[in-house]
Amino acid sequence: MRSKIVAGNWKMNKTLTETEALLAELSAKLPDTDAMVMIAPTHVNLPGAVRNLVHSAIEVIAQNMHFAESGAFTGEISADMLLDIGVETVIIGHSERRAYFGETDGLLAKKVSAAVAKGMKAMFCFGEELEDRKSGNHFAVVESQLKNALFSLDAAAWDNIVLAYEPVWAIGTGETASPEQAQEMHAFIRKTIAEAYDTSVADDVSILYGGSVKPGNAAEIFSKPDVDGGLIGGASLVADDFVAIIKAI
Ligand code: PGA
Repeated sequence: MRSKIVAGNWKMNKTLTETEALLAELSAKLPDTDAMVMIAPTHVNLPGAVRNLVHSAIEVIAQNMHFAESGAFTGEISADMLLDIGVETVIIGHSERRAYFGETDGLLAKKVSAAVAKGMKAMFCFGEELEDRKSGNHFAVVESQLKNALFSLDAAAWDNIVLAYEPVWAIGTGETASPEQAQEMHAFIRKTIAEAYDTSVADDVSILYGGSVKPGNAAEIFSKPDVDGGLIGGASLVADDFVAIIKAI
């Protein structure tokens, strides 16, 4: 079943002390909502955030994981490590992982499969670069990202997939896709999934939009029929802004 989701990706921001302060403020201001609210602090602060939010409706999720069970992968963390501390959802394929850490669709396919095999939810991020959009290649790029990373999953695995369409040109730039551009791409994504699987898989998957979502533009983007929520970067670091975006859904 498709859900409304507002997720905050904190990236490499906030010490543990700052994390605790922001979570206290967020918990105090959290509005009543049908949407699932998630935050993704940096790995080292995950256990503290989980403890902090044990009585809260906010879910703590991870920003990344390795595909292997365990082993000689210095600096990496596994699905079991996340599950053991109570983290059940992981962001995979953020454009910053692709751009700065060389993550390819082939690697991301392994990560998604590993997460799903462990019963975790994978929030898979993808989206075109500015040149792709300028040259009219954005649909083809998005289709190939989906196909290469996700379409070898069986239909049942899609219960554990959340998609986050994030055009790279809109991330952290202050420039957001228009609500119409977001809707057009989200509808295309659903059509592509329906062709590869069937309409029930396509209709049931939550597709979030990400890229400079702010209190001032959230309501209009979220009002589009194929937009099920947002993955929020910068604005999720300020409690009042994140709360305003949650209210917008
Ligand atoms: P932004 O980041 O909201 O700061 O553009 C979005 C993201 O990276 O998920």
